[in-house]
Amino acid sequence: MNTEAQKFAGKVALVTGGNSGIGLATALSFAQHGADVVIAARREQEGREAVAYIESQGGRALFVETDVSDGQSCKNVVEKTTAEFGRLDFAFNNAGLSGRAIPTAEFSEDVWNRTMAVNLDGVFLSMKYQIPAMLESGGGAIVNNASVAGLNGAAVPGCAYVASKHGVVGLTKAAAAEYANQGIRINVVCPAVIKTPMAEEAFADPVFRKMTYEQHAIGRVGEPEEVASAVMFLCSDDASFLTGIALPIDGGFMLFKG
Ligand SMILES: NC(=O)c1ccc[n+]([C@@H]2O[C@H](COP(=O)([O-])OP(=O)(O)OC[C@H]3O[C@@H](n4cnc5c(N)ncnc54)[C@H](O)[C@@H]3O)[C@@H](O)[C@H]2O)c1
Repeated sequence: MNTEAQKFAGKVALVTGGNSGIGLATALSFAQHGADVVIAARREQEGREAVAYIESQGGRALFVETDVSDGQSCKNVVEKTTAEFGRLDFAFNNAGLSGRAIPTAEFSEDVWNRTMAVNLDGVFLSMKYQIPAMLESGGGAIVNNASVAGLNGAAVPGCAYVASKHGVVGLTKAAAAEYANQGIRINVVCPAVIKTPMAEEAFADPVFRKMTYEQHAIGRVGEPEEVASAVMFLCSDDASFLTGIALPIDGGFMLFKG
């Protein structure tokens, strides 16, 4: 057996928004590394398809319909996880809404509130219920998903998205400091543009595509699997001395922002 491939055997990983894009790639990667995987997301059909795929590859997975903006829902998915698999070792808090590039003075209060409820409250509520389960399991690792928009300001993708993702970076650092000496490491990834179905639609416009690619020093946007591999690293013992870091996964995007 390839021990590297099975390095998470016996571990349990929970991925919010694990039925699509970056979350799906990360859920599949956890399964490839031998972990049992819980997919916490809203859309049932995509969630069940992901579970069926993992099971067809010999893995174990569970879909739990979850709305991360609702504390009871976040509590429920952790309870279902420990009931089914007996423990919780890793969480990737990835569920999020995309931004709206509308100036602050014209920004709708409803869109602001919904963006904060999913992107920021969703990470807080997820960690609130994951952390006790991880402490019960003897420790663990959490990776939150922010964005390069959590590290610098920009008119695109808009004020609510930028503020929510800066919030995720701050929240990660506070929680990392609180639990560092209790065996839970908490880090945050900050991707630049990643080729998910949503981004693909925007790239149908060749001018937009060229402009976006050129914003990344590497000359292209990222693949969901390139975020997943950073999450695998941050959850592994290879990252045993890393906590509270905000890691850009950006093909050099931030090089142009200094
Ligand atoms: N794609 C990019 O370029 C990019 C760049 C930086 C950061 N991100 C972040 O990555 C994360 C995943 O985005 P993606 O690009 O894979 O897009 P996506 O739309 O494919 O995935 C978003 C996921 O979040 C889920 N979700 C949304 N609201 C939810 C809720 N209330 N409760 C539970 N699940 C909910 C969706 O169902 C979906 O599974 C987001 O947090 C996004 O902000 C994406």
